[in-house]
Amino acid sequence: MEEDRSGWATSAQAWITRIDDFDFAREVLLDKPMLRMCGPLEGRSLLDVGCGEGRFCRMAGAHGAQTTGLDPTLPLLETARARHPEGSYLVDVGEDLPFENSSFDVVVFYLTLIDIPDFRKAISEGARVLRPGGRMVIGNLASHASTTPNGWTRDADGKALYYALNNYMDAFLSCGLILREYLEPIPTLEEVAVNPKWADDRKVPYVVAMLWEKALRG
Ligand SMILES: C[S@@+](CC[C@H](N)C(=O)[O-])C[C@H]1O[C@@H](n2cnc3c(N)ncnc32)[C@H](O)[C@@H]1O
Repeated sequence: MEEDRSGWATSAQAWITRIDDFDFAREVLLDKPMLRMCGPLEGRSLLDVGCGEGRFCRMAGAHGAQTTGLDPTLPLLETARARHPEGSYLVDVGEDLPFENSSFDVVVFYLTLIDIPDFRKAISEGARVLRPGGRMVIGNLASHASTTPNGWTRDADGKALYYALNNYMDAFLSCGLILREYLEPIPTLEEVAVNPKWADDRKVPYVVAMLWEKALRG
């Protein structure tokens, strides 16, 4: 067995249990805008890079998409296959996609860029396998939430020097993708009334959803 450097294989069962229980970022914030940004899915081919146990492939499949999920973590993919026999699932990495140019109508990275070691390469691979005019749909942690270390870096006197931010945008722009929509989803007032602990999530967005389009001519 290959060394599990990322830890995903070892933690796969714990991840599946967690995601089956409840996931705020996905169920409250991202699922709806991500599905909407995919556009009409009936008969469309959709690639989900870093699909995990396949929850977004199943959602897209329920809307008529022909889904392909790709992920390097075998135990997650085995679960994805068992849960969604109609879907196609491949063990591989996002940095080197085993598909011809322009193979898909939609390419999705759902809270996955943060876990792909060379996310720039994966974005350029995603753009390569997307057909001209096709949609790349991204769910990601907000750029202040995905840094390590996280938050303010201070000097010896405690004075704030700078706040770490990740820069993902240039990775998309340099692939010739066009930004069509940028959203910072937050819980609705009605949701906060039922779950007051989500009030702060209305002030500081934790995630972003983006719709990028591949230019018709390069
Ligand atoms: C936070 S999980 C998200 C899974 C799924 N997209 C979801 O929303 O439930 C990150 C996923 O990235 C996968 N991953 C890790 N390295 C990767 C790589 N190089 N290429 C593609 N996926 C990778 C992991 O196996 C894991 O399934």
